[in-house]
Amino acid sequence: MDENLKNFLDTHSTPMYVFDASVLKKRVSYLKEMLPSNVSLCYAIKANNFIVKELDEVIDRFEVCSPGELSVCRKLNISGKKIIFSGVYKTPSVVEELMAEDYPMGIYSIESMVQYKLLVEMASKYNRSITVMPRLTSGNQFGMTKDEVKTIIAEVKEMPNVTIEGIQFFSGTQKNSLKKLKRELTKLDEFIQLLKEELDYVPKELEFGPGFPVTYFKDEEFDEDEFLKGFSEIIDEMNFKSKITLELGRSIAASCGTYYTSVVDMKSNKGQNYAIVDGGMNHLVYFGQSMAMKHPMCDVLPERDEEGAVDWNICGSLCTANDILVKQLPIKDLQLSDVIRFEKTGAYCMIEGISLFLSRDLPSVYIKNEDGIYKSVRDSLPTHPINTPNY
Ligand SMILES: Cc1ncc(COP(=O)(O)O)c(C=O)c1O
Repeated sequence: MDENLKNFLDTHSTPMYVFDASVLKKRVSYLKEMLPSNVSLCYAIKANNFIVKELDEVIDRFEVCSPGELSVCRKLNISGKKIIFSGVYKTPSVVEELMAEDYPMGIYSIESMVQYKLLVEMASKYNRSITVMPRLTSGNQFGMTKDEVKTIIAEVKEMPNVTIEGIQFFSGTQKNSLKKLKRELTKLDEFIQLLKEELDYVPKELEFGPGFPVTYFKDEEFDEDEFLKGFSEIIDEMNFKSKITLELGRSIAASCGTYYTSVVDMKSNKGQNYAIVDGGMNHLVYFGQSMAMKHPMCDVLPERDEEGAVDWNICGSLCTANDILVKQLPIKDLQLSDVIRFEKTGAYCMIEGISLFLSRDLPSVYIKNEDGIYKSVRDSLPTHPINTPNY
């Protein structure tokens, strides 16, 4: 363990998350290097809204899809011009406030005919010019049919104050099949051709959420260089040669995060060893983890070799038998106050936790700056006030 980390752990209480700005920025550079030159990157802040400021200088756009996420960006002085306000429910009062205030929103996505009507009406009521992106559905509650997208494009042609930037499409998350991504992009390419033929409309841009995958568990194999080369070939083969914005959350954010939690109790029941930690499943969620059957990328601090290790079940502090973070983790000479370090926890792991369950405190959050300094960005937070009736 390096001296900087040792000092930090000696002086700060677990449970906590640390998001490393240097790892994050290198990650964005890597993705940019690996992708074709007509590709730009949009960060879907739902993956982790604590790293937005660090990303601001290296990312082209932010996707926000709730009034709360928008507030986070506004608090951090992110330019509205850099934001696509997306989401299946655009709270009408929030849209109205934005128009009334003339908040400079980069793009509004349109997910339904109801949203379309709302945006057009509000823009007209407040005499605003807006830029929109109809979202084509991938076959779920999000976005609209091709016919609806076509209707909007045809109608907006007659509206001087509404501009259509392009088409938005979200494929899904943890998409590791290049075949499926190719099928979707080919269909989108065909749809774009159809828009030219039928409506004489050429999108300036395609915003595509490819859901690039992240490996979380030991023994998972994934050759990311090869995957991104394959994906770039698919993009290069498209007839559509204009700007393609990739809306990414997980792939950008996952690698920068580490979760630290300390052993607070140890016991052996009916032949099984249990280490209780001060964190738990209310803080830490892994995509694809089911009943802790897989081993996430984690280790024990201070570091030690594995010779003579015994298996420990690492359990959180919640009073539920489900609160198991890792099953049968081999550890040599485990001690109270040893720290378990979970890697690759920068995307969703924290934000998707069932935080309110059992009224335990939320973890504190730090950004590790590029100069190695740990900056506190949120103290540990009690959840019991949220769970207390107000009579
Ligand atoms: C519209 C949209 N864009 C982008 C993303 C980010 O997906 P991922 O984190 O898999 O990259 C999501 C995730 O749900 C989404 O709904």
